[in-house]
Amino acid sequence: MCRAVAPYTNQVVGVDLSEAMLEEARSRSQTWKNISYVHADFETLATEFSAGSFSLCLALFAVCCAESAETLNTLFRGIAAVLRANGRAIIQIPHPSDSFFRERSEWFRDVDRLDDYFAEAALVKRELRTTEDEWLLVGRYHYPLSIYVNAMIRAGLTIDRVIEPKASPEVVDRWPDLAREARLPSSMIFVANTMGDGKRG
Ligand SMILES: C[S@@+](CC[C@H](N)C(=O)[O-])C[C@H]1O[C@@H](n2cnc3c(N)ncnc32)[C@H](O)[C@@H]1O
Repeated sequence: MCRAVAPYTNQVVGVDLSEAMLEEARSRSQTWKNISYVHADFETLATEFSAGSFSLCLALFAVCCAESAETLNTLFRGIAAVLRANGRAIIQIPHPSDSFFRERSEWFRDVDRLDDYFAEAALVKRELRTTEDEWLLVGRYHYPLSIYVNAMIRAGLTIDRVIEPKASPEVVDRWPDLAREARLPSSMIFVANTMGDGKRG
């Protein structure tokens, strides 16, 4: 993601807790002089970076690593704090319904089965298929939708748009094994803003 946005801005900072992920990202970003990577816990954004110092924060399949609802609150407060007035956050989460669909996907295999939608911070493990046909074990914490949305609202983020991405007919024509993904959602994207007059939450 850092490389994807780098052509459009002066400075990109990638944050991760995993040294191995940072090392991989650094090795793939050597030609990009405007990307830096910082080893930090996403719970400490507000102390790690100056208030109002970013115009855009991307958190794509990251906040689902928060181990408790309180961590989610801290994380969204940190995002709101480091964004400038009229800043923007784009937050992509696994679709909270996704753990409950029983139709098999060609792209993942469930390891854990969840039967309580209202469970907070329930660890769900699954294997994901990469485009190189490897299967990777990944884990995430499940939260009901209201926990995510209320945490954003409490942090002072104004939700501007919600997107439930799906495979388009053109994509399914080209990759028929994504037919399930044209009918069942796998993620949600929130486009949210900080307020314009310095009244950040
Ligand atoms: C599914 S990956 C998303 C990667 C990233 N969005 C990207 O596009 O490359 C989730 C990432 O969150 C990181 N992570 C998990 N807990 C974290 C924490 N407490 N603070 C910072 N990063 C964390 C993991 O190491 C992992 O790299």
